[in-house]
Amino acid sequence: MPVSEDIIQRVERLREELDKHNYRYYVMDDPSVPDAEYDRLMNELKAIEGEYPSLVVPDSPTQRVGGEPLAAFTQVTHEMPMLSLDNAFNEDDMADFNRRIIERLASDEEIEYACEPKLDGIAVSLLYENGYLVRGATRGDGETGEDITQNVRTINSIPLKLMGNGFPERIEIRGEIYMPKSSFDALNKEAERLGNKPFVNPRNAAAGSLRQLDSKITASRNLEMCCYSVGIVEGGSLKETHTDSLHCLNQWGLRINAEMKVVKGVAGCLEYYRSIAEKRNGLPYEIDGVVFKVNNLALQQRLGFVSRAPRWAIAHKFPAQEELTEVLDVEFQVGRTGAVTPVARLKPVFVGGVTVSNATLHNMDEIERLGLMIGDSVIVRRAGDVIPKVVKVVEEKRPDNARPVLFPSHCPVCESEVVQLEGEAVARCSGGLFCAAQRKEAIKHYASRKAMDIDGLGDKLVEALVDEGHIKNVADLYTLSRYQIASMERMAEKSADNLLGALEKSKKTKLSSFIYSLGIREVGETTARTLSNAFGTLDKIRNATVNELIAVQDVGPIVANHIVSFFEQAHNNEIIDQLVAEGVSWPDIVVDTADKALQGKTFVITGTLSQMTREEAKEKLLALGAKVSGSVSKKTYCLIAGEAAGSKLKKAEELGIKVMNEHEFIDML
Ligand code: IVH
Repeated sequence: MPVSEDIIQRVERLREELDKHNYRYYVMDDPSVPDAEYDRLMNELKAIEGEYPSLVVPDSPTQRVGGEPLAAFTQVTHEMPMLSLDNAFNEDDMADFNRRIIERLASDEEIEYACEPKLDGIAVSLLYENGYLVRGATRGDGETGEDITQNVRTINSIPLKLMGNGFPERIEIRGEIYMPKSSFDALNKEAERLGNKPFVNPRNAAAGSLRQLDSKITASRNLEMCCYSVGIVEGGSLKETHTDSLHCLNQWGLRINAEMKVVKGVAGCLEYYRSIAEKRNGLPYEIDGVVFKVNNLALQQRLGFVSRAPRWAIAHKFPAQEELTEVLDVEFQVGRTGAVTPVARLKPVFVGGVTVSNATLHNMDEIERLGLMIGDSVIVRRAGDVIPKVVKVVEEKRPDNARPVLFPSHCPVCESEVVQLEGEAVARCSGGLFCAAQRKEAIKHYASRKAMDIDGLGDKLVEALVDEGHIKNVADLYTLSRYQIASMERMAEKSADNLLGALEKSKKTKLSSFIYSLGIREVGETTARTLSNAFGTLDKIRNATVNELIAVQDVGPIVANHIVSFFEQAHNNEIIDQLVAEGVSWPDIVVDTADKALQGKTFVITGTLSQMTREEAKEKLLALGAKVSGSVSKKTYCLIAGEAAGSKLKKAEELGIKVMNEHEFIDML
C-alpha cells in the first residue's frame, strides 16, 4: 500500500513524542504524561507500523521488545580498555589517595572531585555512531566483553537514538546496568511463588537478566542504566570536566546519577561519603560505596593509570552486606500463634554493620529451596534495616559431617504435637496456651507498644516472669506484687514501682488496642481498628457471626473464622473477663454508618514529614475512612511523600500513582 506523506509525518511525530515521554519518565524520573496517554500513542504507532511495515526502523520506540534468540554471544574487543577502580576502606586510605594526587600534580590548591554513588550492577559500554546505538557490550575482563546489543536495546533508559545535537560522530558511553530494589523484590516474590530459586541480590539478578540469549527475557525484567564515563570520542568533543561531560550525556538522552556532586578536597569527599551512607537505605537502587574522580579531565590525563586502574579515581567502599559464615545448628522457635520457625544459628559474622549470629529460615520450603544442611557454609545478607537472611549455600564447601535439617514432630518447648494444615506453609505447635513459648509470646504481644503499651515490660522480663511461675497469662500481669517484680533479675524497687505504674496506666485503653492486644490470628492493628469502628463494643465483636464479620470491609472468611474460633474458646473469654475485672476499660465507639470522605482508599506514607509524625498522619487518614499500607502497589490510591522519599516514591511514579507532598496532604485534610 502506498504510504501518504500524512502518515509518514504522523509516524515521525508519534516517535518524537514517545521518545520525549520516554526520556522524561525513564531518564529524568519526571513523567510528563499519564501512562494511559503514553500507551495510546504507542498503540497508534504500532498500528500504523503494522499496516505499513516498510515504515519500521530499528530506532522506533516499538522496537524494544526483544528479537529472535541468539545461539551464542559474540566477543567484543574494547577499543579502549574498561578499567577498574582502586578501593579505599577508611579515612586514611582516602587521605593517602588525595595526597598522592596532590604530590603528582605538584598542586598547592585543593583538588576538585566529582562524587557519585558506586552502583552495584554490571558495567557496560554503549557505542553510538552518528547518534544511533550500534552496539552494547559487557565489560568482561576489561579487554574483551560480550555483545549484548539486542538486550540493551530493551532497556528503556537507554536511547536507541541520541537526542538533540552536538554529540560526537562516534562516542562510547559507559555506565552501570542495574535492577532497582523494588523490581528485584517483585522478581524474587514471583520466583518464590513459582517455586524457583530466587536471585541472591539485585546485582546477580541484573547480570542474569542481561546475559540472556533471548532478549525477550531481558525485556521482561526491569533494568535501568546510569552513565558514569565516556570511552572513545571521535568527530567531536566533550567538556572540560567530568561532571559537565556527564550533563552533556544527560541532554543527549542518557540517565546520569541525581546524587552526583562536586566537592573540594578530602574533607568534601568524606562528608559526601557520610551523607550517601545515611541515604543509602532510602535509595531505590543498591550501592556498595561512593566513587571520587578528579573532576578536571586535563588533570585526569596528567595523572594517567597504574596497571588496571586510574590514578585519578577511587571507590570508597561501604562495609559489606554479604558475608560467608557457617551454620552451626538449626533450632526451632515457637511463635505466638504456635508457628514453628527454623532459625539458623550462625558462626558470628560482621555484615551490614552489625554482628549477626542468627538468621530466620522461615519454613521447611525455604530450607529445601536453599538445599541447606547443618554445617554448611552459607552467604548471609543484611541489607538496610532488614533482618539477616541466608541467601545461598556454598555447596562446594559442604563438610563430610554435614547433617540434614529434620523438622520436629513435637513442639521443642511443650512437646505437644506439631501439625501442618493443608495449604499452609507453616507448621504449628498444637499446645495453644499450654505451651510456655506461646504464652510468653502472647504476653509480649499484649505488652507491646501498639497493643497495651506497657512501658518497662520487655521481652526478657516477660520470659523470666513466666519461667518463675509468677504469671501464666496476660490477666496475671495485674496481680503481680511489688515484691515479686523487685525480686527479678536486674529489677529493684524503683523499677518495680515504675512497672506497676505502667500496668495501672495501661488499664485505660482504646477498644482497637485491646482487640489487637488479644493476639487473634491475622488480626493486626488495621483489622482491629476496622472491627472496633464497625461494631463499637467488645460484646458485639465477641458475639459476631462469620457472616456478620465478613460483611465488614477488608475482613475475609479466614480472618472471620479466626475471630469466631478465638471467642469460642472458653479460656480466652475467662481471661478477657478477668482483665475487665482488674479494671481494663475503654470507651465504646459510636458506630458511624455514613461513608467517610476517604472510605476505601489506600494511602502509603513515606519520607519525613515536618508538621506531624507519620503515625499522626496515619491516624488522620484512618479517621477519614482511608486505609494505610506500608508498600506501594497498583492498589495504592495515593502516596504521601515527605522529605527524602526514596524507593516508594520511585515505585509510585513507575506505576503512575498519584503523589502528594506534605503541603498538598495538609490541604486535602
Ligand atoms: S568509574 C576508570 N563510576 O565499579 C573508571 N565506576 O570497581 C571506571 N561502578 O567496573 C569506572 N559505579 O562497574 C565508575 N559511579 C561509578 C561507578 C562505577 C559503579 C563500577 C563499575 C566498575 C567498578 C570498578
